[in-house]
Amino acid sequence: MENANHLLNTIDHLVSTINGDWKDTLNRVCALLQKEVPHYDWVGFYFADFEQKTLHLKAFAGIPTDHTEIPFGKGICGQVAESNANFVVPDVQAQDNYIACSIDVKSEIVVPLFKAGVNIGQIDVDSNRINPFGPEDERFLEAVNDKVKNIIPENYIS
Ligand code: SME
Repeated sequence: MENANHLLNTIDHLVSTINGDWKDTLNRVCALLQKEVPHYDWVGFYFADFEQKTLHLKAFAGIPTDHTEIPFGKGICGQVAESNANFVVPDVQAQDNYIACSIDVKSEIVVPLFKAGVNIGQIDVDSNRINPFGPEDERFLEAVNDKVKNIIPENYIS
């Protein structure tokens, strides 16, 4: 991904000039990634409600999804809420525990977002291509999460 450093610098700028709701800034980050990375067709951030054991969509770019709330353990996102590990899905049709958001989606990557060592949420990227995600995407999305974690407030669920 040849524009990764440029994108990370732009995200640095977005999070350091936050002016208003943190979710607006996250929406801008999603829009930037969806526009500038050709194989990122849908980009969203889910955050964990540890009492309800559910994930909640707080920002996204791409086609709106019905799956704005996902129980821990369900789908790729729900599995990452419990595993605390990156999950790369080269072909979503090969997954049993998968929640389809659009028939166009062929692959997915979910990377947990750690704040103070706690997996509080995740970035979720869908692609309409088969098998586009590699270690470069994992390192890139880990870096994105590391930058945005600073603007997530304590009461991010309310
Ligand atoms: N496919 C995800 C659900 C979220 S959508 O991709 C927007 C999953 O299986 O958890």
